[in-house]
Amino acid sequence: MCGIVAAVAERNIVPVLIEGLRKLEYRGYDSAGVALLNPTLTRLRSVGRVAELASLAEAQVAHHGIAHTRWATHGVPSERNAHPHVSEGLAVVHNGIIENYAELKAELTAAGYVFTSDTDTEVVAHLIQHTQKTNNDLFDAVFATTQRLIGAYAIAVIQEWDDRIVVARQGAPLLLGVGEEGRYAASDASALLQVTRQMIYLEEGDVAELKRGSVRIVDRNHVAVERALHESSLSADAVELGEYAHYMQKEIFEQPQALAATLEMIGGAQSFSPNLFGTDAPELLAGAKSVLILACGTSFHAGLVARYWIEQLAGIPCSVEIASEYRYRVSVPHPDTLVVAISQSGETADTLASVKHAKAQGMMRTLALCNVPESAIVRECALRFLTRAGPEIGVASTKAFTTQLAALFLLAATLAKQQGHLSASDEAEHLTALRHLPVAVQNVLALEDDIRAWAQRFSDKHHALFLGRGHHFPIALEGALKLKEISYIHAEAYAAGELKHGPLALVDEDMPVVSIAPNDALLEKLKSNLKEVAARGGELYVFADADSHVDEEPGVHVLRLPEHYGLLSPVLHVVPLQLLSYHVALVKGTDVDKPRNLAKSVTVE
Ligand code: F6R
Repeated sequence: MCGIVAAVAERNIVPVLIEGLRKLEYRGYDSAGVALLNPTLTRLRSVGRVAELASLAEAQVAHHGIAHTRWATHGVPSERNAHPHVSEGLAVVHNGIIENYAELKAELTAAGYVFTSDTDTEVVAHLIQHTQKTNNDLFDAVFATTQRLIGAYAIAVIQEWDDRIVVARQGAPLLLGVGEEGRYAASDASALLQVTRQMIYLEEGDVAELKRGSVRIVDRNHVAVERALHESSLSADAVELGEYAHYMQKEIFEQPQALAATLEMIGGAQSFSPNLFGTDAPELLAGAKSVLILACGTSFHAGLVARYWIEQLAGIPCSVEIASEYRYRVSVPHPDTLVVAISQSGETADTLASVKHAKAQGMMRTLALCNVPESAIVRECALRFLTRAGPEIGVASTKAFTTQLAALFLLAATLAKQQGHLSASDEAEHLTALRHLPVAVQNVLALEDDIRAWAQRFSDKHHALFLGRGHHFPIALEGALKLKEISYIHAEAYAAGELKHGPLALVDEDMPVVSIAPNDALLEKLKSNLKEVAARGGELYVFADADSHVDEEPGVHVLRLPEHYGLLSPVLHVVPLQLLSYHVALVKGTDVDKPRNLAKSVTVE
């Protein structure tokens, strides 16, 4: 989604803005722009990569400016729709969606403002300008404007002859950076590490004024507030590509260490403790009679795996809902439900709204399972578990998914223990399996060369089917999602038993069928499903375990994972599917880290 960088400093801030935008490229965008004050306004915009904007801005020097990468919502990707948007000498960048923009636009048009773009953001620029006619001060005008906006926004505003940047946020991320030489704002910390590690996270409804040496913040009620200064622990290296060709590849290979970091707290533990989930967790988890998981996309798939674990281990009913559906559907709330929001970014608009919806219905036992500390979803929930995957830059989620699975298994085992469903020997066995997980994933990564060879055979295909059963069915869903989002091959996943109820009609020699065939209780059932495919000429690509009795034969290709991993097997079996989609995308030459039309952190509905 859109990225914002803003800076006011002693130094020339043009390179800071451009470098900041580069760091936000991973969020997905189609155009970019900057507005600089000298002290009059210069605006530069371009469609395409930040590199193009960088060459346009090369000769510029300024101490005060705002910058933006745009992911189109209102209006096509074009220079005229790229941010910043201006109204006389005032410029605005914006992330989010202004839902009442049409009504505001009509009002401003009637007042004589002329619109030069199709965006909702231009409304904000003119509205601040218009508000200044009665409310002269820029800060006051921005505050008054925010009171009229419905929707989600993070904005940064500058104006000719004014030495400030005014920012505001509601429902979209924005943090401030406090540096030696100036003050900064950005959509996420990675953009500001180049100048500072000292960050201030704004709360919902905050409006702030940045000058070279100071920050002033008011809350939604216009009361002056101090927000805590945090030292970012993000390492600058963590957002560098290093020896890898793509972030997705780097992140796939980082999974062993991401899992080790996420599971570090159980390193020497003899038992699963609710304290892993926060100080109030012993009480809140113990009273939970059911679990409701809310998430989107890949995080939703992690939730689907967790349902198998929670019901099997803890014996508690668990439902998993797509956040964008749950937030609008009439459902039956149960106050004793533990609501678990899963999100890599912690900023996904639908997931955040779904938690608020659950709380509004009286479900106050909320747990955030996120990869970003201080994110909106973390702050919304009573309990938290932070996965320690490190920054995930590739749009296609990989290490965030496997670390979510590890965290969800911890949750399932903890609930099981609290319910008295976990024997001492099972507890010891699960702890051992979790501790060995990073090594087990490392061993699976060794399959890369074989998978690269398979990928060649997928590159000219237009469709693919993914099959799995039991807790590997969600892994089939995840494999299909990975393939479609980065290689643009249409892929569908089915619970293998469903095949004969419809999708089998699609199977012919042009339809590769990827199957997840671990050596579990459902293997024999799955093998019957695979025979149904083979009998129709379908080409089968089977990911089996070393000890699975699935044999290579014409039309049946088999790769074996090193060992069967019991309940945690989904964490291993997703890895070859990530590698497969990565290598198919490489053969097809797609933009692996920034697939078309997609954004990393989906902060709009
Ligand atoms: C797919 C992918 C998305 C995200 C989804 C939710 O590879 O990354 O489907 O999983 O947008 O994002 P988070 O987890 O940040 O809430």
